[in-house]
Amino acid sequence: ELPKLYEAFQSDFRIGAAVNPHTLSVQRELLVRHFNSVTAENEMKFERLHPEESRYTFTEADRLMTFAEDNGIAVRGHTLVWHNQTPSWVFENSDGGPADRETLLRRMKSHIDTVVSRYKGRIYAWDVVNEAISDQGGEWLRPSKWLDIAGEDFLLKAFEYAHAADPDAQLFYNDYNESDPEKREKIYRLVHTLLEQGAPIHGIGLQAHWNLVHPPLDDIRAAIERYAGLGMKLHITELDLSVFQFEDRRTDLTAPLEGMLEQQAERYMQIFRLFKEYKQYIDCVTFWGAADDYTWLDNFPVRGRKNWPFVFDGKHEPKQAYWDILELAGE
Ligand code: G3I
Repeated sequence: ELPKLYEAFQSDFRIGAAVNPHTLSVQRELLVRHFNSVTAENEMKFERLHPEESRYTFTEADRLMTFAEDNGIAVRGHTLVWHNQTPSWVFENSDGGPADRETLLRRMKSHIDTVVSRYKGRIYAWDVVNEAISDQGGEWLRPSKWLDIAGEDFLLKAFEYAHAADPDAQLFYNDYNESDPEKREKIYRLVHTLLEQGAPIHGIGLQAHWNLVHPPLDDIRAAIERYAGLGMKLHITELDLSVFQFEDRRTDLTAPLEGMLEQQAERYMQIFRLFKEYKQYIDCVTFWGAADDYTWLDNFPVRGRKNWPFVFDGKHEPKQAYWDILELAGE
């Protein structure tokens, strides 16, 4: 019988997967066997949980919780405050004009209160704020309605509200391109500032949407090293290794090319070796999916282009990457 991935890494970190209603059904067996943490790919985002001010929709999120709890799998919460997938009512008055600061903060508090309290003690970590740092050179915070209307301290407030609702939950700031030297420093500065302000923040999430060559391993190491220096917990929150490089817009592949999966296995091995080196800080490594039959990358950056980013293939069989990281796990 196939060794369980999460058991192999038990003394290192949790092994997680992002799930959605479709994969919860078709990948159920695989998820139960190999993973001990799950994250909702979309179902706990603002627009899904709270489409109108006076209406919450918890059905799918509750279903995920039941699945996880029935199977002894821990749940990471994703995400409370984000510029994306947030309904427009949050930022508007009833007359369609922009909401004022007080109103926006009150709505944010009420959303966080309701959601975090509902799952109090059952979600061990929350991505409280997602992607608030700008990708533009020289610009610090990402322009967003949260920032425009509420000002910079929407960040501190989000952590305070989440902590008040569940004092035991670990609270994370989550972002991508964490390995890019400039962005890495901006994220560092943000978290450092929050800590100085006394924010209840406990960790940094590194999304880790990477490919076979980018980012260079040294840049990943530098990010882990830098963030670990803040004395924070680190979670790898959205790991996948696209077989395509950024500039590659080919759409004609129906299977990975010769060599791609070998290269992917090698890269997974290097990355997991690095994670293990820092296991003192890294508590959880979550893939943004579980097996190659479903990945958000099938629609990004090109719609309808198949990708094969995981360690299990489209039939849920182990790929070479699975065997290679498993070997490492024993070391
Ligand atoms: O549910 C609708 C469906 O009714 C409609 O027919 C279909 C047509 O486009 O769209 C469906 O919604 C899509 C949704 O995923 C569910 O599949 C949205 O268009 C699509 O934009 C959405 O994408 C999600 C994306 O976040 C949105 O920003 C991806 O699934 C999800 O994997 C992705 O996850 C993010 C993390 O939250 C944050 N970090 C980056 C990561 C990847 O972008």
